[in-house]
Amino acid sequence: MNALRVCIAAVCAALTVSAASAAERGVANPELWPTAHSQGLIDPKTEAFITDLLTKMSLEEKVGQMVQGDTSATTPEDLRRYPLGSILAGGNSPPLGSDDRAPASDWIKAAQAFRAVSLEKRAGHTPIPVIFGVDAVHGNSNVVGATIFPHNSALGAARDPDLIRRIGAATAAETAAAGIDWAFAPTVAVPQDDRWGRAYEGYSESPDLVREYARAMVLGLQGEPADRGLIQKGHVAASVKHFLGDGGTKNGIDQGDTDVSEQDFIRIHGAGYPAAIDAGALTVMASYSSWQGVKMHGNHSLLTDVLKGRMGFEGFVVGDWNGHGQVPGCTEENCAAAILAGVDMLMAPASWKGIFNNTLEQVRSGKIAQARIDDAVRRILRVKAKLGLFENERPFEGRSNVLGSPEHRALAREAVRKTLVLLKNNGNVLPIKGSARVLVAGSGADDIGQQSGGWTLSWQGTGNKNSDFPNGQSIHAGLKEALERSGGSAELSVKGAFKTKPDVAIVVFGETPYAEMQGDIRTLEYQPGDKRDLALLQKLRKEGVPVVSVFLSGRPLWVNPELNASDAFVAAWLPGSEGGGIADVLIGDASGKPRNDFHGKLSFSWPQSAAQTNLNYGRQPYDPLFEYGYGLTYKDRRDVAALSEESGVGAADWNIDKYFAAGRLHAPWQFVVDPRNDKVLSVRNVDAGGVQEAGRQFVWSGTGKGSVALRGTAPIDVARQSNADLAVLVEYRVDARPTSSVQLALTCGDRCGSTLDLTPVLTAAPLGQWQKLKVKLADFRKAGADMSRVVEPFVIRTTGQLTLTLQTVRLDSDSQGTTTLRPAS
Ligand code: BGC
Ligand code: BGC
Repeated sequence: MNALRVCIAAVCAALTVSAASAAERGVANPELWPTAHSQGLIDPKTEAFITDLLTKMSLEEKVGQMVQGDTSATTPEDLRRYPLGSILAGGNSPPLGSDDRAPASDWIKAAQAFRAVSLEKRAGHTPIPVIFGVDAVHGNSNVVGATIFPHNSALGAARDPDLIRRIGAATAAETAAAGIDWAFAPTVAVPQDDRWGRAYEGYSESPDLVREYARAMVLGLQGEPADRGLIQKGHVAASVKHFLGDGGTKNGIDQGDTDVSEQDFIRIHGAGYPAAIDAGALTVMASYSSWQGVKMHGNHSLLTDVLKGRMGFEGFVVGDWNGHGQVPGCTEENCAAAILAGVDMLMAPASWKGIFNNTLEQVRSGKIAQARIDDAVRRILRVKAKLGLFENERPFEGRSNVLGSPEHRALAREAVRKTLVLLKNNGNVLPIKGSARVLVAGSGADDIGQQSGGWTLSWQGTGNKNSDFPNGQSIHAGLKEALERSGGSAELSVKGAFKTKPDVAIVVFGETPYAEMQGDIRTLEYQPGDKRDLALLQKLRKEGVPVVSVFLSGRPLWVNPELNASDAFVAAWLPGSEGGGIADVLIGDASGKPRNDFHGKLSFSWPQSAAQTNLNYGRQPYDPLFEYGYGLTYKDRRDVAALSEESGVGAADWNIDKYFAAGRLHAPWQFVVDPRNDKVLSVRNVDAGGVQEAGRQFVWSGTGKGSVALRGTAPIDVARQSNADLAVLVEYRVDARPTSSVQLALTCGDRCGSTLDLTPVLTAAPLGQWQKLKVKLADFRKAGADMSRVVEPFVIRTTGQLTLTLQTVRLDSDSQGTTTLRPAS
């Protein structure tokens, strides 16, 4: 229903104004947008049921339906006072009273506890089941023991919609078995710049493939559009995300601006939505990003006119994690604009109470029309009804044989086999004979956490051990099984050591887990400045061992040196818990005949320079190293010639966070000492922590003002890092106490910067002992610095005497243990 049509006279003016100004900056050509039809969502019986329910609900209950709290900040008890419609457990959020490595039984208990309160029969309460959602984005990946499927960038290489559908169904079954109703998947982003840390959540840079897969995944998760009672059938609701344009942000910066024409917005980024809606998608998640400078959470023309109007979407729109708080004029606790724009449910993890109270007030005051509320609630109730939540029967819940079942693991392993892309196989090193003696090396060889990537048990996927995957298999374990079966052997040495020379080495290496924002990179170069893995490949080569590289990554990266140092090179993406799928393809039978051929074809173009950041099939200039669709098979006998090792980028392009570590400066960073006069401020290298010259000692003599700063070659943009709570980490030792005040500064050019008072910290530090200091970037921002053009991220100044030794200065992604310094007067 259109809010404008029913608004009362007093508020019509306000509504019209806000709709008009949004429309001005919204779509210009609605007729260019594809139409779709929300199949299977509307039926007269359900609509009548909802109409009846709406008459019984209080305004509080209606507003409550539109708010989603997170398990880390909401208790079942809270729902008695605040009748929230939904609960989520975010990537780092445990089920109740547990931790984020919790087993399925804890998830079931948590979901049941919230559900029970929502369904209580008590006076003044309309029983309506909560809907419980998680990021089941590659399997039910929050829950210990679940099958972890390859991430989406891998699945793209399979070119197999039927496989995607089966993965969706398995994921749904494992999600429903853990008591959960809703998966925040699939991501139908069409990543255009692989520097984006979420590129692996997208299936492809090609809209055509995304379109096909979007449909398949929705059908897999939800079942046929005509189905009802999905939860009874082991299905869950899907959430197609992130609407719209998440994969197109400038420079691949997460949550940024997608500044493309309306035509490109539709053709590239819009591709997945009509297909998903036609397949019956029950929910769509709004994007954090902006289009042409307008935040999606506040974009009426796209959320309402296009998505719900033109595309006929009849499910509900959920916001992203406090995404509404980024709309101009909003806070996390107060945002009528998002609701007016068309968000039906606000994801308000810990901000739910404020959002609830403020929204209630805004309906009472007429700022939000009752009709908008009724429309949002109708959509939410429709989804709940279709899922079968009102029946409150859950035959799948607690089925212990579903989670990590042999069938699901076999399916995941099939997916691994089908997604490996063979980039190079010179001299046909692969397949390896089953009877061979194989050295298995590399940091990823025996690490299920690394092979699974982000959104696995924890948000960023960090901190996972093999024991956290009771049903998983590492790549080494899979290789060992296959080789020993045929009389061969697999000896594991992460560093590549061996006593008897092996027939061949398989080296497994690549990106370590990351998710949103932390995965954003500045160039496409793999391991810039510190080519540890290349050194391992080269060592083995020198020892005369043929090298097969298995590269784990969420995206294509510039790996020319590593390709050159390998005889064969396999892009294995982030394959998930079934490492055995690698051996299925790489290891042949005892005679060397392949057991499975390579099948995967690139769904992302592979760059030949680290600067090729917008390399996409169908877009000029197109000059990849390996084109979209590339992938060798065992039938191909094509050698890859030696490649250029010029990365095309300099250190200044990528190093914005590591300045000085263990006594070493990292390019392009240098210490700048002012004045250059030893009598005022002198510098020397000193031993630190038992390591020769691992520290740099600065002595201020007290004869004048002296400062030491870290400077690169160009200003750096750390705005996103400062919003994300990164800190400047300093490892230091005070060797002689300050005799006057000392300042810690960050500068951003002429008369730009902020200065904090470091005196108390240095005065209190025990003499001659190493200390750590962490200061949030945000503290410098709050004190006035422009974080988008930082020239010197670290400056120390004093006019007095001081002897200070530094060992490390870098940015740290974990803001725990930070110190708040007062602005210097
Ligand atoms: C992400 C979403 C995710 C949500 C809940 C957000 O930060 O952008 O993709 O579904 O958190 O965890
Ligand atoms: C949550 C994620 C969420 C992220 C957003 C994390 O703490 O666990 O689910 O996506 O915050 O910033």
